[in-house]
Amino acid sequence: MNTETLVKKNIEIKVDEKILLKVLTQNDVSESYVEWLNDYEVTKFTEQKYFRHTLESTKTFVCQKYDSESDLLFGIFFDGTHIGNIKLGSIKFEHMSTEVSYFIGEKEFWGKGIASKCVETVVHFAVTELDLKKINAGYYENNTGSAKVLQKCGFVVERNIISNAIFEDKPINFIFVGYVPN
Ligand SMILES: CC(C)(COP(=O)(O)OP(=O)(O)OC[C@H]1O[C@@H](n2cnc3c(N)ncnc32)[C@H](O)[C@@H]1OP(=O)(O)O)[C@@H](O)C(=O)NCCC(=O)NCCS
Repeated sequence: MNTETLVKKNIEIKVDEKILLKVLTQNDVSESYVEWLNDYEVTKFTEQKYFRHTLESTKTFVCQKYDSESDLLFGIFFDGTHIGNIKLGSIKFEHMSTEVSYFIGEKEFWGKGIASKCVETVVHFAVTELDLKKINAGYYENNTGSAKVLQKCGFVVERNIISNAIFEDKPINFIFVGYVPN
């Protein structure tokens, strides 16, 4: 698969019997999706907390990612219901590397192993279908859930940037992790 195939974006990935990843289109942008983005509990470990999101801004974001030749923005669908997102991008085909980022917006789905399964599946897709040789990710040091997800999926800590972000008025470290396929 290459950039040309990415433009088509008709990609669906089955994670298990209940979970499906589908490239998002603007038709997937719902009031719930916008509510997740404006929910401090969901976004507090991400830069999204600094923005006020609307249906319009979210549709614009989804369309930009859909049209992009270097991003794959998947919705996480559980039994057909959109519950969160996982993104590969930007994909640097010249360096065969990318970043992965994710959130589960519907909080009742937290702690059920969904993010771990989705990250594992998307990393496998990136390696086998896109032929990428490196997947990067990062998290605020106090985001224990995300740290565990990435560790479980085979990511290793590459860099700890001291006092790189302010979290609830206190400086905290930012951790960069990476996955290299065998
Ligand atoms: C962080 C997040 C993605 C975790 O998703 P999830 O589907 O709940 O994660 P999983 O169920 O796969 O959990 C993986 C492990 O982390 C643990 N975990 C999950 N959330 C945790 C939390 N808040 N505190 C401590 N441990 C947590 C789970 O117990 C599990 O551990 P185990 O394998 O030892 O049982 C989810 O809470 C979320 O979307 N948060 C808001 C957005 C966000 O932080 N995104 C990541 C930015 S880097």
